[in-house]
Amino acid sequence: THKSRSITTPLFPEFPSLKEKVCVFGTGDMGRSLGLRLLQAGYSVMFGSRRPQSCNFLPNGAQVLSHAEAAQAAHLIFIAVQREHYDFLVPLAYHLKGKVLVDLSNNLKKNQYPEANAEYLQSLVPEAEVVKGFNTLSAWALQNGPSDANRQVYICGDRAEAKQVVLAVATKLGFSALDRGSLSASRELEDFPLQLFPLWRLPMRIAVGLTAFFFFYLLIREILYAYITQGKDISFRIMVSLANRVCPIVSLIMLALCYLPGVLASFLQLYRGTKYRRFPDWLDRWMLCRKQLGLLALGFACLHVLYTLIIPIRYYVRFWATERTVTQIRQNGTNEFITSRAWHSDSYLSFGILGFGLYVLLGITSLPSVSNALSWREFSFVQSKLGHLTLLLCTIHTYLYGGKRFLSASLYNWYTPPGYMLCLVLPSVVLLLKLLLVTPCVDRNITRIRQGWEKGADQ
Ligand code: HEM
Repeated sequence: THKSRSITTPLFPEFPSLKEKVCVFGTGDMGRSLGLRLLQAGYSVMFGSRRPQSCNFLPNGAQVLSHAEAAQAAHLIFIAVQREHYDFLVPLAYHLKGKVLVDLSNNLKKNQYPEANAEYLQSLVPEAEVVKGFNTLSAWALQNGPSDANRQVYICGDRAEAKQVVLAVATKLGFSALDRGSLSASRELEDFPLQLFPLWRLPMRIAVGLTAFFFFYLLIREILYAYITQGKDISFRIMVSLANRVCPIVSLIMLALCYLPGVLASFLQLYRGTKYRRFPDWLDRWMLCRKQLGLLALGFACLHVLYTLIIPIRYYVRFWATERTVTQIRQNGTNEFITSRAWHSDSYLSFGILGFGLYVLLGITSLPSVSNALSWREFSFVQSKLGHLTLLLCTIHTYLYGGKRFLSASLYNWYTPPGYMLCLVLPSVVLLLKLLLVTPCVDRNITRIRQGWEKGADQ
């Protein structure tokens, strides 16, 4: 295929004699890896170096020349040099006239320099055609060749012909290049590699915020309360009891937060009577991070399950169980089996287990390798129908766990409700709104709108 491509689309149509020659300035990791890939793809590669004689470890088959010689010999030059060293290009300006310079550089932090590196390069050699590109790849990714996760490279530049040349090389190296527009987009491209899990940031903040809030809330109303009002030190409970409250509470709230934006969006469409208007930005952003919210929520649910599993082996639990038995023997008393309590504990546990089972299914189907194997209908069935069912089961689990205690005034330490009551507010609201949306008359309207019907359009 390589052969046929080079016949149908010559790499440098306007420079037939320089065909397939490319030059790399910079002999660091990035330059060497790029040189190797270029050689493997069939290019003749020349490295430009300050000291051509003392360059070691360059890929076999590459030529090493002085900067000026290399610049003269090739039409396409990759600049794999840090921005601070760009001045060496100024004396070469004459040789670089009309050449395509690919700026691969990245910065260590955002807004490190007033202008993007690629724009700075263009200002140093105004007569060259600067194209920004390949900077989102690491030397490692270049050496290993394109894989699913890093097939995409971005380029931008002011001259279409120059971008075409770079695009052709990217394709030949096995990458799929996306044209992001003019050189003024280079700042954005330079910021890409600096982003750390951008879609996880908001869900992470929510998780940390909720965890901190509920931790201190429960610390005060349970542990501090016992210490101040009864003089009892039950601080050891922070480790398991408190953790096993905070984790499920945060999990349930975050699960509800996954489904709230969808419900809000439906109501917004109903209210506007059309699907053809953009959602507000905050709603868009919220919808985009639902997967991350859900996966974090699943993590908290897993912790809750683990903490629950260890309850029987806790010293505190075993001590009091034995103590109760011994007291009973001493007093020669009997304990009656209360069927309603058995029903209560079995049913809330069972709902927890069913909810958790579906929760895991939701998590698995949101992984790209699984969701890519599903049709859109199947994916939305799992994520929406089963998702709301999961929320329902987990909410029932928590309501049942609360049981009759919802009515008991003695639980409102310092007038504050227990954590599980607080955490039920949001899921209950989401489920109620969802219930409204699935009633036949509302559902009919929503379906019409989703099919393209608009309010006022058919009169
Ligand atoms: C509470 C078991 C799954 C949410 C509890 C408690 C147990 C339990 C034993 C009482 C803990 C205590 O007394 O401190 C289970 C089991 C599950 C499961 C065995 C599945 C294998 C879930 C899931 C959620 C959830 C998936 C949803 C996020 C809650 C909540 C509480 C709770 C909010 C109340 C926490 C509190 O304030 O004490 N669960 N659970 N559970 N569970 Fe689950």
